[in-house]
Amino acid sequence: MMRPYTEPDAVPFSPAGPHDQPLEFDAAETICTHLGETAIDVGGPAALPIYQASTFVYPSCADFEARKQPDSPYFEYTRVGNPTTAVLQNKLAALEKGRWCYVLASGMSAIVAALNSSLHSGAHVVACGQCYWPARRYMVNYLPRFGVDTTFVPTLNPDDYLAALRPETRVLYLESPTSGTIEPMDYEALAHEARKRGVVSIIDNSWAGPIYSNPLEFGVDMVVHSATKYIGGHSDVVAGAVIGRDAELQKRVFREVELVGGTTDPFAAWLMLRGLRTLSLRIKQMEQSALAVASRLAAHPAVRRVSHPGLEGSASRAIVQKYFRGTGSLFSFELREQTKEAAYRFVDRLKLFSIGVSWGGHESLALAGQWFSDPRSPCWTVRLHCGLEATTDLVADVEQALQA
Ligand SMILES: Cc1ncc(COP(=O)(O)O)c(C=O)c1O
Repeated sequence: MMRPYTEPDAVPFSPAGPHDQPLEFDAAETICTHLGETAIDVGGPAALPIYQASTFVYPSCADFEARKQPDSPYFEYTRVGNPTTAVLQNKLAALEKGRWCYVLASGMSAIVAALNSSLHSGAHVVACGQCYWPARRYMVNYLPRFGVDTTFVPTLNPDDYLAALRPETRVLYLESPTSGTIEPMDYEALAHEARKRGVVSIIDNSWAGPIYSNPLEFGVDMVVHSATKYIGGHSDVVAGAVIGRDAELQKRVFREVELVGGTTDPFAAWLMLRGLRTLSLRIKQMEQSALAVASRLAAHPAVRRVSHPGLEGSASRAIVQKYFRGTGSLFSFELREQTKEAAYRFVDRLKLFSIGVSWGGHESLALAGQWFSDPRSPCWTVRLHCGLEATTDLVADVEQALQA
């Protein structure tokens, strides 16, 4: 028999999902394994149940009335909060050194909720010109319908972002490293300056994930993730997360979740909780493979450039060392022969890398296109995500494909 979430020793599952309690442990692996899991059924399942319920019922009208009290153990309605989702949110908030987290139905819905929470008609956004393309499209094609204008900065120089700020700028939207060119940015001073000017900063931290980078520690106001990537980790869930510290921002993001309704499904939340159990192990394995494959490519005469910020000799090594405890699974490179045929031939010859969008899952993926390259000098680029196959097999696969 399942006990309701009323036990006094339970981690408080506020419907708003804040993580306000001092942590007894702060290592990411221990957070992923234990945080928020004390409130499990008396029967003692070792894995948190999926509360696949749309609505929650109450023993009395007084309890129903008390549901909105801070730290109320009661849930109301899954669009607003759910016990399975709340455990996930508490873990993600703790992993990102934040105080609250909301998990949404996709990375895009997380990006949109974070942006919209700080925008109003007449507001202005300063954004990284090389951010994830649909996020850019949202700012270019959608926000103007509500009178919001965006300036895209084509470089990663913080001074160029400062120069683009206007009195009506409300949001600074960053991505580090950038989606296509995989270049990191030194954003700490910029984030602090933005806050001084009343501009809310948001950063997409999907590439490093919460294990390898915590941008809130560098002055950013909100972190967004495509949880579809490492957090889900098995290519079977689409989800996103927004994480922050400030209580006022929390209220605003919560309104976006509650009123726009991009809440995640409890089953998806449970899949992400399962993904978190192995997140640290997976990212380390993927990092090792990505570095090995990228190094091999960099040494090959058929390759003219590899964009992996963690490589020895990379121009952005100092930035990586400051902001990242490790590097991700995703990088890109350019063949010396700059034709569509050469890029396609390489990708078609790969045996272990499947051809497909997305990344962060167990399986290695490859894509060829010009859209990963710097838009100012487009070229044929191959993007690789190294999954959980053996590193030696991935290196051998890339080597045999280069024979072509
Ligand atoms: C860097 C980055 N941010 C955000 C997203 C959007 O996430 P989702 O596909 O979960 O909406 C993606 C998706 O590929 C991404 O690569």
